[in-house]
Amino acid sequence: MTGAFEFATAARIVFGAGKALELPAMLDGWGDRAVVLTGSRPDRHAELIAALPMNVAIVTVSGEPTVDVARDAVAAAREHGAQAVLSVGGGSVIDLGKTVAMLLGNGGDPLDYLEVVGRGHPITRPSAPFAAVPTTAGTGAEVTMNAVLTAPEHGRKASVRARSMLPALALVDPLLTIDCPPAVTASSGLDALTQCLEPLVSRNRTPITDALAADGLAQAAAGLRAAYADGTVVAARTAMARCSLLGGMSLANAKLGAVHGFAGVIGGLVPVAHGAICAALLAPVTAANVQALRDRDPDNPALAAYRRASVLLTGDPEATVADGVEWIAETVRLLGIGGLAAAGLDPALVDEIVGQTGSSSSTKGNPIDLTAQELHGALVAAL
Ligand SMILES: NC(=O)c1ccc[n+]([C@@H]2O[C@H](COP(=O)([O-])OP(=O)(O)OC[C@H]3O[C@@H](n4cnc5c(N)ncnc54)[C@H](O)[C@@H]3O)[C@@H](O)[C@H]2O)c1
Repeated sequence: MTGAFEFATAARIVFGAGKALELPAMLDGWGDRAVVLTGSRPDRHAELIAALPMNVAIVTVSGEPTVDVARDAVAAAREHGAQAVLSVGGGSVIDLGKTVAMLLGNGGDPLDYLEVVGRGHPITRPSAPFAAVPTTAGTGAEVTMNAVLTAPEHGRKASVRARSMLPALALVDPLLTIDCPPAVTASSGLDALTQCLEPLVSRNRTPITDALAADGLAQAAAGLRAAYADGTVVAARTAMARCSLLGGMSLANAKLGAVHGFAGVIGGLVPVAHGAICAALLAPVTAANVQALRDRDPDNPALAAYRRASVLLTGDPEATVADGVEWIAETVRLLGIGGLAAAGLDPALVDEIVGQTGSSSSTKGNPIDLTAQELHGALVAAL
């Protein structure tokens, strides 16, 4: 951690159970035509959408968004003459909305701006006003400056990214996550936990992200197993919505690590929920990082950060780093997340995945450079 830092987040964040009822008033002055993006069941949010103070076109998305899905969505928004964009849904829907808002402001095609596999042009103009209303807890995408798209022709997920893509409004109402089935609660919740842990140990962490990520981990400890066991418990859903929000704020400013480096590569190869991929990797990558730090950089403050995370997750002030890794592994098991091979990942691809992960932008936030052999060992353990 250096002395200098900066911090950017959504222009306005509103958090609390029942706050979605206040959405129409929050959109005062946003124009009279908007596009609303939702998951495949817009009826889930019929009341919320009906109360909006503008003429809306609804675009639905099922699954994680691809470049083609983004093209179709922005075409619909342009045809409607949308002045503003709203996403009511999980990370997939929020990322699609962020992309549509950016393209309304900047023109062009998603591939013009997509990193890694696209043309990676800089995004120079503001997005159309964009409100993100998450229904999972979650990706924290309501407060991040990137949107993840899959480019199936390249077998790879990649981001469009700009500070100007931070939403104008992030409205986080935990009640909207009550309907999440256990599998979505598990995968999105473990993604949220990962997005607090990786920034807490990241080489880009700052005093602000440390505070946010630590509180996020405490919320995961309080809410993750409980929300999975009984999704109707509002206190557990509220804890996880806060974990997700704080994870998003942390990752947007401190970046992530090797778990997300792997997940970006693997997510383009197997059709498995992003959070389930992160969950399978989290304990093995944490163990690999801790071992590498002890072997090669024992004074690195990331080791103390891992111990702090272990205390927060287990609730035991005496917890060791090994206790924290065991808590993570046990939680992943309790939440029914299996290995990556059972999810369809071909073990023959391990070397290729390791090669791509080493150079991925997320991996650069990892607290220590892992060797190809260490990455290999972690991935094999996650199979
Ligand atoms: N931009 C970012 O900062 C960022 C960060 C992390 C992940 N992501 C991306 O987010 C996507 C994953 O998002 P996610 O984990 O939220 O899952 P998701 O948005 O793909 O949703 C998963 C499933 O849950 C359903 N669902 C959502 N809310 C529901 C509710 N309240 N009740 C019942 N069902 C509901 C959806 O319809 C879908 O079938 C991935 O594409 C990932 O790459 C983006």
